[in-house]
Amino acid sequence: MKKELIVVLDFGGQYNQLIARRVRDLNVYAEVIPYTVPFSELKAMNPKGIIFTGGPNSVYLESSPHYAAEVLEAGIPILGICYGAQLMAYMKGGKIAHAPVGEYGRTEIAIRKPQSRLWKEIPQESVCWMSHTDFISEVPAGFEVTASTVGCPCAAMENDELRLYAVQFHPEVSHTTFGTALLKNFLFEICRCVGDWKMDDFVEETVVSLRERIGGHPVVLGLSGGVDSSVAAALLSRAIGKQLTCVFVDHGLMRKGEGDFVERTFTSLFDMNFVRINAADQFFFRLKGLIDPEDKRKAIGEEFYRVFWDNVRENHENGFFAQGTIYPDFIESGSGHAQTIKTHHNEVKKPKDIRFLGVIEPLCLLFKDEVRRVGLQLGLPEDLVWRQPFPGPGLGVRVIGEVTAERVAILQEADAVLRDEMKKSGYERETAQFFAILPGVRTVGVMGDHRTYAEQIAIRAVTTDDFMTADWAKVPYDLLGRISNRIINEVDQVNRVVYDITSKPPGTVEWE
Ligand code: XMP
Repeated sequence: MKKELIVVLDFGGQYNQLIARRVRDLNVYAEVIPYTVPFSELKAMNPKGIIFTGGPNSVYLESSPHYAAEVLEAGIPILGICYGAQLMAYMKGGKIAHAPVGEYGRTEIAIRKPQSRLWKEIPQESVCWMSHTDFISEVPAGFEVTASTVGCPCAAMENDELRLYAVQFHPEVSHTTFGTALLKNFLFEICRCVGDWKMDDFVEETVVSLRERIGGHPVVLGLSGGVDSSVAAALLSRAIGKQLTCVFVDHGLMRKGEGDFVERTFTSLFDMNFVRINAADQFFFRLKGLIDPEDKRKAIGEEFYRVFWDNVRENHENGFFAQGTIYPDFIESGSGHAQTIKTHHNEVKKPKDIRFLGVIEPLCLLFKDEVRRVGLQLGLPEDLVWRQPFPGPGLGVRVIGEVTAERVAILQEADAVLRDEMKKSGYERETAQFFAILPGVRTVGVMGDHRTYAEQIAIRAVTTDDFMTADWAKVPYDLLGRISNRIINEVDQVNRVVYDITSKPPGTVEWE
């Protein structure tokens, strides 16, 4: 069944993915489309409405992204945000000026046209989030100002007859207190959406379409134990049961007990063929003597590629190949390089000699939080659905220096203590990611009456929204104290624990 669609026309602003997510949270399906897509194609998608996003530029620059003028004449409701608002004004003959001082952050805003459909039931005076220097200095003919701030005489404008609306601020950002209400008005009062994007429907409809596409053929999926591939596996299992084979390569660099947990989950809760390849010895052999982080990453990547594809070549060729690609993998937020968007769609890194009937990516339209909701609905355990990001090379990049089975075992034990304490204290969800590192620097200590010369463990915990930047988490001292005591008491060969207080930048989240 065809869903209602809102097109988020991407002019390169940093919040573009967020706009689509907010719209979807209101049960209307939204897609981010680069501004390079011709209007004829966009129209053929039959959107209920279009949102012009922000962008980093001034509309008068020749290099700035513009769009075909017909878009404003097509009778499709449009909401312009920030740069998108200025672009709409410019295209309709209004004027844009450069303010001597920009408006950034929380800003008080007053409504000038309370009867506007876009501003329905929004308080007369409120707070919005601004981020601009250019502003609409002259409203185009036929438009009226619907809201203003002290620094911005036209904080919002509209031509209700043409169904064109524009706001200088960012309704998608949570600091705009009425942002959701405004988007809701746009979707339901103006675009006349009914809100037919629901996760339960998504599961049922995807199961039906997967069955149709796959028929009686086999499907193979590479399962890493991460959220995306796990949810893809659960969804495919619901659709085709034993026609699905999940291949899980255990490289011996997972956290303590994780390989067994993944195996237990998929063999006991789901109907499928589950293949676990215990390849730790091969990986450790390959890693022997390697110290440089890039050499280690490369070795692990190549070994993984070899082990996985050898298995597929032998046992699973000629069916479909499935992977857990999700929507943000396709679109680059804040791109400003819209032409690179979606290029890796359907691009599978696989040896040339392996043939498949096709590639299946059942989650390719979903954002991460939607993927999690689907996972929970399919009965995946919370621990798996809320799993923190884990680097592909696993503990290989958290054991600094040479990676050996013995050193990985030390780190696994320390990391298990850390996880246990973070969970017990309820502090787990306060951080975006936390883990232990084995720096490989021995230090002197004293235990009982003995001098020790042993390993140290570093603890890293960060808060972040997007992992592009991060702050070190202010984990309470008493909790850090308990973690330190337990690691030193319970993990052989460790006599010191340190806490990493570096933000990103300048540090990265991982140590290698
Ligand atoms: P950095 O260290 O770059 O990490 O600040 C940012 C986020 O990415 C994760 N990370 C990886 N994930 N393969 C992955 O799938 C990798 O090679 C990799 N390296 C880092 C890291 O855990 C953090 O969440």
